[in-house]
Amino acid sequence: MPRKILVTSALPYANGSIHLGHLVEYIQTDIWVRFQKMRGNTCHYVCADDTHGTPIMLRAEKEGITPEQLIARVWQEHYNDFASFHVEFDNYGSTNSDENRVCSETIYKSLKAKGLIEVRSIEQFYDPVKNMFLPDRFIKGECPKCHAKDQYGDNCEVCGAAYAPTDLINPYSAVSGAKPELRNSDHYFFKLSAASCQQFLREWTRSGSLQPEAANKMQEWLGTEGENKLSDWDISRDAPYFGFEIPDAPGKYFYVWLDAPVGYMGSFRQLCNIKGFSYDEYWKQGSDTELYHFIGKDILYFHALFWPAMLHHAGFRTPTKLFSHGFLTVNGEKMSKSRGTFITARSYVDHIKNTEYLRYYYAAKLNGTMEDIDLNLDDFVAKVNSDLIGKYINIASRCAGFISKRFDGKLGHTNSVATAEFQSAFQNGEIAHCFEQRDFSRALREIMRLADVANQYIAEKKPWELAKQEGKDNELREVCSTALTQFRDLTLYLKPVLPELAKQVESFLNIPSLTWSEEWLPLPTGHNINNYQHLAVRLDPKLIDAMVIANQESLQPMNEPTTTQLPITPIAETISIDEFSKVDLRVANIVNAELVEGAEKLLKLTLDIGEAQPRTVFAGIKSAYDPEKLKGRMTVMVANLAPRKMKFGLSEGMVLAASGETPGLFILSPDEGAQLGMRIK
Ligand code: 2FM
Ligand code: ZN
Repeated sequence: MPRKILVTSALPYANGSIHLGHLVEYIQTDIWVRFQKMRGNTCHYVCADDTHGTPIMLRAEKEGITPEQLIARVWQEHYNDFASFHVEFDNYGSTNSDENRVCSETIYKSLKAKGLIEVRSIEQFYDPVKNMFLPDRFIKGECPKCHAKDQYGDNCEVCGAAYAPTDLINPYSAVSGAKPELRNSDHYFFKLSAASCQQFLREWTRSGSLQPEAANKMQEWLGTEGENKLSDWDISRDAPYFGFEIPDAPGKYFYVWLDAPVGYMGSFRQLCNIKGFSYDEYWKQGSDTELYHFIGKDILYFHALFWPAMLHHAGFRTPTKLFSHGFLTVNGEKMSKSRGTFITARSYVDHIKNTEYLRYYYAAKLNGTMEDIDLNLDDFVAKVNSDLIGKYINIASRCAGFISKRFDGKLGHTNSVATAEFQSAFQNGEIAHCFEQRDFSRALREIMRLADVANQYIAEKKPWELAKQEGKDNELREVCSTALTQFRDLTLYLKPVLPELAKQVESFLNIPSLTWSEEWLPLPTGHNINNYQHLAVRLDPKLIDAMVIANQESLQPMNEPTTTQLPITPIAETISIDEFSKVDLRVANIVNAELVEGAEKLLKLTLDIGEAQPRTVFAGIKSAYDPEKLKGRMTVMVANLAPRKMKFGLSEGMVLAASGETPGLFILSPDEGAQLGMRIK
């Protein structure tokens, strides 16, 4: 009985390009889906762009277009990128679709009817300039632990500390630069802490739906029996927000992570509408179809906790299995823009063209676990050239010409002794088993072992010598025909990984589309093959170098939250270098800072620039700085400004601070290592 399978990959955000890291997942999923289809199973592969949320809303605003225009453009880019890498979805939708809205509302209403939705007021940072609540990633400030500047509201990229945005020192809005205010607002929560949720998740974790590493993580999140470790999940966001408005809750929107996984259902619903498949058959509770989600390990929490709990309590089936994978490193390190290893799908296509090489390399690395995989660029070239060109393609290129030229394209008899190992490999199902388990790396090792067997056979029989000898025609024909049957088998096995190449081989061998379901037979005697045309070229390492350089050159932040362009005051009149040199700027240490009685805006600073006596400077920065926090800090001062007599005393210089149209005042700091007294020029 063919199985009925629904497969998804995580939905990529609609505000960034697809890069080689994303492709690990889509290629992995696509290989598995193609394998299932070749086995004769009914398998639907759906995905969609993940279109909602604040970053997309702000990005569209920055580009001066509507979010709908932005997501339509990015959808097309993503779609083209996937097609270039032969990632073949049965439906590629968008979370901003009517189908998804209906699915999201249905789930929400069911949860609400079950008493699993609760409204609570929460306190959150609000940008008074932009008039919006700020997601954690859009609040920046000084890390409360290591005091690194400009860290995000959820964790510090310098020391790794995790904290709440309210812990940041001198927080500011990354959108407008304004100082955020704490405000209250009603939020909608999915009651994950409810006993029924915890109970259900405990059972689900044990049902074998997770890889062992993921199941362990779940145990950690759930805690021991009786412990109530899960908190309720905040599923609403306030306007302005790009998303679906919550039914009967004006101004409240579903948080992007609510309608994103529902996007799997929305996309499948679209497919059903087009193809007439039964949506309920796949999603009803107790369905006997299979449902698999391929995801990165970073989004396990959403898929292993929120998603099954939502589905179950809303009356739908839960996933059969989650297949989590690790991250991609390039040359053993995190992908990096400065090293040129943050490579977009488009740039790979532009430079390397052959996308099946990457599919092959990834497959050779993927083993179905959550371990990270490394794309070593030298190894990539070596592996493609030695395995694909040197072992696989070589079989056809050494044998096909003789059949065409000497035997009018007609195959002879196949030597069953030489193909015995191939026949038993097909029958024992080992390679199929590896594909089923997503252990593609083991499958490819076995396939390459068979390629070695074929190459040894050719090396022993030396068809090029037989061709020169009188009376060896039959033997020559048999050797080449046998090798081409071996080549056909290898093509069958490689087809999920190299679908385009397999298509070319099918056409060259003049055979119907290869599937896995039939019994093993050699290519028949007398079968006509077509002329051999070059199937693939060696991968030139120079192309890789050029790609890396190109990615180094186009240093554009892709995944960072976008900040709005700030209006700047006009640039002042041009001055000469001599005029500038008249200003003596020095690195100063703030040895003391205190409030000035009776002064509304001033702080009294004591600045050491290495002179015999420290200087006193009155600075109008009280609104932005707590004097205690300034003590011991380095800054920049104008050291040759004429002393100015003020109401509170003599000011012997000036500290520099940045300010603009938007609120906020920011004094300067020299880079680490600068010594007090150093001149700035
Ligand atoms: O992490 C991400 O890139 C999300 N856009 C994945 C969403 S997967 C699913 F839940 F929609
Ligand atoms: Zn820190």
